[in-house]
Amino acid sequence: MALVKQQVAVVVLAAGKGTRLKVSTAKPLLPVLGLRLVDYPLQAVAQWSQRAQVGVQVTAVLGHQKENMQAYLQTRYPALNYVIQHEQKGTADAVRAYFTQTPSALDFAWTLIMCADTPLINAEVLNTLWQAALGESSAALAATFMVDDPSGYGRILREGAAIKQGSFKIVEEKDASPDQRLIKEVNAGLYLVDTKLLHTHLQQINDQNKAHEFYLTDIFDGQHGKAIPINNGMALLAGVNDMAQLATARAELRWQKIKSLQMAGVDIIDPATTYIDQEVEVEAEVVIHPGVHLEGKTVVKRGTVIEAGAVLKNMVVEEDVTIKAYCYLEDSRIMAKASVGPFAHLRPNSVVGPQAKVGNFVELKKATLLEGAKVSHLSYVGDAEIGRRTNIGCGFITCNYDGANKHFTKIGDDCFIGSDSQMIAPVELGDNCFVASGSTINKSMPANSFAISRGRQQTRVGEAEHFKAKKKE
Ligand code: UD1
Ligand code: CA
Repeated sequence: MALVKQQVAVVVLAAGKGTRLKVSTAKPLLPVLGLRLVDYPLQAVAQWSQRAQVGVQVTAVLGHQKENMQAYLQTRYPALNYVIQHEQKGTADAVRAYFTQTPSALDFAWTLIMCADTPLINAEVLNTLWQAALGESSAALAATFMVDDPSGYGRILREGAAIKQGSFKIVEEKDASPDQRLIKEVNAGLYLVDTKLLHTHLQQINDQNKAHEFYLTDIFDGQHGKAIPINNGMALLAGVNDMAQLATARAELRWQKIKSLQMAGVDIIDPATTYIDQEVEVEAEVVIHPGVHLEGKTVVKRGTVIEAGAVLKNMVVEEDVTIKAYCYLEDSRIMAKASVGPFAHLRPNSVVGPQAKVGNFVELKKATLLEGAKVSHLSYVGDAEIGRRTNIGCGFITCNYDGANKHFTKIGDDCFIGSDSQMIAPVELGDNCFVASGSTINKSMPANSFAISRGRQQTRVGEAEHFKAKKKE
């Protein structure tokens, strides 16, 4: 990789309380397609930095729930820097905290400031701003966009008292006059500012406003600033301040993900009812029926069909698998040409081998079915390995738990296990064993053995009437 000099300091504001959401989760940690809100701006920066070959030093300003935030961020972004805003006194105060706690802040010619609550942002938007900055010597740029309903956003004032031709000011909604509230050009909360200019202007900001907050938007004093309108900005820069806006942003990202898979050859029969997380990978020629959820780090390979209502979490599904309707599958692997469901439950660490079959109302937990094994109906297989081509009858149960510990069941290749049998673990069957229906097996069986373990049947011809009459007495 080409060595790039660090040129831009990126500050992600993520200290706010998110009061309007009315939930205890820190806003930047709200779940969005298997990631968190804050992942989106951070990933956009990483992409832009790579594509535009711009070196970045990224710092997150944390405050509200800083421990939770840091715990989440540090595993995913080892190079991320942190500063703490101790009291949430506004966006300008957050940037001040950044300057006081980051000795290298003034080494960067440019400072890019982003909010953690704009998840639709992408590398192109950042690049638009960057290209605009390259033509300027000492600039303060703010991204703006047009929106039909501007409520909640700071309004862009392009003319008025003390506003130079071509410059602008921002008035927050709380402080805006009725006329200013009608303005439909709004502040996106994305700024690229000459670092020294930013540092100087920050010193002058006060909290003389309706919210008694230090507004970062006050650095745009109508003299130096330049507003950069972003086309289709609502689809790229919408902020998330409440649950309705969170749902709207999720819907947009969900649509983008589905579109990218469709373009890669995935047949999504009903996009409106299909939910696919950001990090899910699906190959071409996979067919996804309505109501399917693919979550976490799920991978689905070529030729697989997933029928209606299946939920897959962190699954690996190989080629040409059939997943029948209404399965719940998590943290497991299904190998090529296997078939699972309908109504099957794979619990973590299970493996369904190549051409194996898991039928309806079957639950696997930490269980491996080797190639061609079949568990077709109404069974629980936990802490077990089932050998190649072995056929497990209906209503089979591994009794894996003795009330204190879990024990393992191993069944060899080419076995036949009759319906309604139980294996009281630990127990091990060699290859080619035959277990008669209704058997309770608690002793291991060497290869090629037969076992039957059930009450002997007595049939007394003609005694049925007599038996019933006796019951009635
Ligand atoms: C802000 C802008 C508004 C703009 C909108 C775009 C200000 C004063 N207003 O308003 O002009 O239209 O974004 O979405 O900047 N934060 C901190 N510390 C604080 C306060 C906030 O780190 O003390 C962080 C928040 O976590 C959030 C971001 O700053 O990520 C923006 O704060 P928020 O309260 O959402 O600002 P808005 O009211 O949306
Ligand atoms: Ca916001």
